Amino acid sequence: MKIVVTGGAGYIGSHTCVELLENGYDVIVIDNLSNSSFEALRRVEEITGKKVEFHNVDIRDKSSLSGIFKLLSETLLPLSLKDNTAVIHFAGLKAVGESVSFPLEYYNNNITGTINLLEVMKEYGVKNLVFSSSATVYGNPHTLPIKENFPLSVTNPYGRTKLMIEEILKDLHLSDPSWNIALLRYFNPVGAHKSGKIGEDPFGIPNNLFPYIAQVAVGRLPFLNIFGNDYHTEYNREDGTGVRDFIHVSDLAVGHIKALPKLFTNCGVVTYNLGTGKGHSVIELVSAFEKASGVEIPFKIAPRRAGDIAACYADPSKAEKELGWKATRTVDDMCRDTWNWQKNNPNGFRL
Ligand code: NAD
Ligand code: WQD
Repeated sequence: MKIVVTGGAGYIGSHTCVELLENGYDVIVIDNLSNSSFEALRRVEEITGKKVEFHNVDIRDKSSLSGIFKLLSETLLPLSLKDNTAVIHFAGLKAVGESVSFPLEYYNNNITGTINLLEVMKEYGVKNLVFSSSATVYGNPHTLPIKENFPLSVTNPYGRTKLMIEEILKDLHLSDPSWNIALLRYFNPVGAHKSGKIGEDPFGIPNNLFPYIAQVAVGRLPFLNIFGNDYHTEYNREDGTGVRDFIHVSDLAVGHIKALPKLFTNCGVVTYNLGTGKGHSVIELVSAFEKASGVEIPFKIAPRRAGDIAACYADPSKAEKELGWKATRTVDDMCRDTWNWQKNNPNGFRL
């Protein structure tokens, strides 16, 4: 079985490539390296001892995309593409704040890119897709934990691209029920592969909590700003800092492996939360990271960050029931693996 992985050189994509290769899938990565490094894929090969077919292509470049699927159809002959391939679609821009400043870039990259991809998939009869959606589509939920049938709302262009793509995919399936699509809504992916060879390597100052803490720990940044300790909801009882469902990226990667066979059961459009079901506060995370690394993380309490919600965590029971998937790694595992990656690669993939 051949799996086309768009955005496969990125953070979640590279960890998913490891799991795919270790589960016997052939992997074809399409990535324009706009937010990643080829070195990540070299290390995926090092970890697994297997080859990755790589195309340095922008998914908005339709003729190059078409060329990749043409080659794929020729190499698979006499097998059909429909029954022997699937696409996992990670490629996209993902920084919430940047999307507010540059909405057109986000709509162009994420929406136009996805439509191009879908058109080429349709042309070649590849109708099995796993899409990287996000818990951001739930907006600010009224109660927790979040179930897949909660109301959807978004507050920024990034989130809107995710919600729009979900809607586009539902329309596509309505028009042609032979499409099978898994919408995976990730909560807060963190951590790194246990080998310490691949991990999150954001370009510039990190936007997200975990890479920020890791860069403070390794001395690249002086201290952490904690955005608000005055969230006084029933879910923020401990210390008033934000609460999130942090999920180990390797658990998330396994979620994709579990979703693939579902596509071949003629499932139509299915939606799953990929989270642990547990909320942890920012302060709890800082303490866990200090314990795992033995390094003190200096922090200052700063004002709340615009657009942040107080608390968010998943009800992941649908994925467990229907896919047989459950996150197994703890917050301590997430901290240990992030630290192992960061201390061995203080400058990420840049040697
Ligand atoms: P990432 O930036 O590390 O990976 C995305 C990859 O896509 C990068 O390698 C980038 O170079 C590539 N890419 C971007 N635009 C492209 C284009 N037009 N053509 C080809 N390649 C392109 O991000 P990630 O954290 O691995 O996220 C993967 C997916 O999961 C994204 O769609 C993101 O929106 C979604 N997601 C991420 C999170 C998170 O917190 N990391 C949470 C929910 C959903
Ligand atoms: C987590 C908590 C912050 C940085 C984002 C996207 C979401 C999804 C996952 C893609 C919050 C606090 C953070 C810092 C801090 N991505 N924090 N100091 O905002 O939950 O989710 O990534 O789909 O769409 O919005 O993640 O890691 O940025 O923040 O105090 O320097 O850490 O306020 O409470 P978030 P995050």
